[in-house]
Amino acid sequence: MTTQHASATPDLPLDMIIFGGTGDLSFRKLLPALYMAHLHCNLPPDTRILTIGRKPWSREEYISEFMETKAKPFIEKKAFDAAAWDKFLALFEYVRMDVDSVEDYQRLKEVSREGVRRVFYLATSPDLFTNICENLSAAGLVDENSRVVLEKPLGHDLASAQEINTAVGKHFSEAQIYRIDHYLGKETVQNLMVLRFGNAIFGPLWQAPYIKRVQITVAEEVGVGSRAGFYDKTGALRDMVQNHLLQLLCIVAMEPPVSLDPDAVRDEKLKVLRSLRPMTPEDIARDTVRGQYTAGAVNGEPVKGYLEEDNVPANSRAETFVALRAHINNWRWANVPFYLRTGKRLQKKVSEIVIEFSELPFSIIPSGGRNYGNRLVIQLQPEESIQLQMLAKEPGSGMHMLPVNLNLDLQQAFTERRAEAYERLLIDVIRGRLTHFMRRDELEAAWAWAEPILDGWAKSGDKPRGYTAGTFGPAASTALMARENAVWAEESQ
Ligand code: BG6
Repeated sequence: MTTQHASATPDLPLDMIIFGGTGDLSFRKLLPALYMAHLHCNLPPDTRILTIGRKPWSREEYISEFMETKAKPFIEKKAFDAAAWDKFLALFEYVRMDVDSVEDYQRLKEVSREGVRRVFYLATSPDLFTNICENLSAAGLVDENSRVVLEKPLGHDLASAQEINTAVGKHFSEAQIYRIDHYLGKETVQNLMVLRFGNAIFGPLWQAPYIKRVQITVAEEVGVGSRAGFYDKTGALRDMVQNHLLQLLCIVAMEPPVSLDPDAVRDEKLKVLRSLRPMTPEDIARDTVRGQYTAGAVNGEPVKGYLEEDNVPANSRAETFVALRAHINNWRWANVPFYLRTGKRLQKKVSEIVIEFSELPFSIIPSGGRNYGNRLVIQLQPEESIQLQMLAKEPGSGMHMLPVNLNLDLQQAFTERRAEAYERLLIDVIRGRLTHFMRRDELEAAWAWAEPILDGWAKSGDKPRGYTAGTFGPAASTALMARENAVWAEESQ
């Protein structure tokens, strides 16, 4: 699939139109990110932000009830500037709308300007995407300068994703569609491409048999919080694995793209997704673990179990943890297992990729009975760091080796401000840069691989395994690794 790119258009005035303008994502991420973009002069000079919600608020009420009360606390204290904030608030209009009511779009049309670039940010449930796009188009709000941003998860399976993509595609060309996965906006994720394709030393080693295993972990301390309505229908596989973890896997595993052009990068990621070995029911039973947290303690604080959280049905089977072993059927990665793991209410917040290189075929230097392999640990969160575990001589008279880390602390190396993922991606949308957004075929290939796992779990009739909040998930996750005498990264420290 190639994307027909609109020729570079000069910076037009911008109407940023946010559906879901009174929702969680807006106050936690989007509005603070837009404020930062405004503070650093990254919004076009003539920008307006139109937020859409169902609440019967006036503009002033929206500002006081939502912007001041909910969004402002999510702005980093040291970045807050009262004068810049006031100017930022002046960009806002609040439009009360029922997104299913055709007439309400006329109201939006009256507020939005002609001859500007309209960016529609759909921060709503994906069930609404089709109607919103149809209604926008019928109201004459979509033109060749418009762009639409679709939040994840896009659909709940392959068929629903295809349906949404087709429906949205009737009104927006592929070059106008920005399917967001905020992990692609993280500095360290973008840095992973530089690490791989900017450093010649890794090239020859970045494949089987020099790499033995890859681990990708996105562990969170938080629980479901106030999002049970969304999360209980979604679960960790749809919320995190189908998108964030598979995108990380793609960047680790893809071939060097011919350039950084959006399609060049997305073509290579697509090839990885298409090479993922489909999971049979036997693979699912053997190579996947799903869990659900029970009451425990995180950071010394007692926390509820998932089933006790507000708005979670008593018999919920939603998984809050997934660990699985995936394989990529191509020459570079044949027989190299990729272990993916994510969960809520785990022991600590950490997102990292661990590349485990193969061990020495034979060691002439004693290492206390252990055969250490080199490891490259790319930590995305909470710290941005890259460590290469090497073997060094233990000081002393004998010859004995122990692992030590070559440590690249990116926060120390570069002291400049790092934009948050949403800020960076919103600026990409405004400037028309598609490289860090998912193309339709890529997203559908990810669903095609993930969906049989969901079906397999549903057919098995098994419940997710309980795990105590504050641990690293069910024992079966440790056992998944132990089968090949391996351990998850935190257990090897
Ligand atoms: C979102 C998920 O996409 O990513 C959330 O919907 C999750 O459930 C969040 O908490 C994690 O993002 P980050 O940037 O905090 O790792």
